[in-house]
Amino acid sequence: MANLLYVSSSPRGDRSVSQAIAGAYADAWRTRNPAGGVDILDVWTEDLPEFGPDALAAKYAGLAGEPLSAGQQRAWDALKAIAKRFHDADVVLIAAPMWNFGVPYKLKQLIDLISQKDILFRFDENGFDGMLKGKKGVLALARGISYGPGEATSEEEFDFQKSYLLMWLKFVGITDVETIVAEKTLLGPEADAAARETGIAKARELGAR
Ligand SMILES: Cc1cc2nc3c(=O)[nH]c(=O)nc-3n(C[C@H](O)[C@H](O)[C@H](O)COP(=O)(O)O)c2cc1C
Repeated sequence: MANLLYVSSSPRGDRSVSQAIAGAYADAWRTRNPAGGVDILDVWTEDLPEFGPDALAAKYAGLAGEPLSAGQQRAWDALKAIAKRFHDADVVLIAAPMWNFGVPYKLKQLIDLISQKDILFRFDENGFDGMLKGKKGVLALARGISYGPGEATSEEEFDFQKSYLLMWLKFVGITDVETIVAEKTLLGPEADAAARETGIAKARELGAR
């Protein structure tokens, strides 16, 4: 049975463009995989633990090969349980709005929690090795303005949303990635509607494959 993990990171609910696109992908995927499971991880409603002193100390203790205290172990087990949802998935779908040229801090919190050695990647003298190999990634991204080539806000210079998420997926081993980008969602109702429509159509097509 195939599993889709849908990570949602906009708090805009029904008005969210990234969620509308990712939702269309998930619906098409469900139709294509009727026996499949869909796990929804909404970073705004999920009770994400802080990556605080215990988790941090556990990380460094683990790197040094030292035993963990009870509190550190609890913090480590909590983030491991979240990371397991990524291991259990065949497809990792991430819906993300652009916030200040990057991703919402709650999505970054999730990434900071789970990006751990021997949980999502291995690390030795040869470098990093992602542990989520063989999975498919799908990014459903929304931005208020445009980042086309030659624009004052070119992707090359201003985009820390798509580039960051693609880099992170690659880091954890996911290299087969489809990206759907909806731009100009803040440039009036017509531009917003057009961006949604185009994004949703592409998502339906990709999800049905
Ligand atoms: C806190 C915040 C910061 C934003 N920063 C940017 C930005 O840096 N660049 C941009 O193009 N749009 C920016 N926007 C606009 C959103 O990216 C845009 O409204 C997008 O459609 C949001 O996705 P959503 O509808 O899925 O929430 C920002 C919106 C918010 C709420």
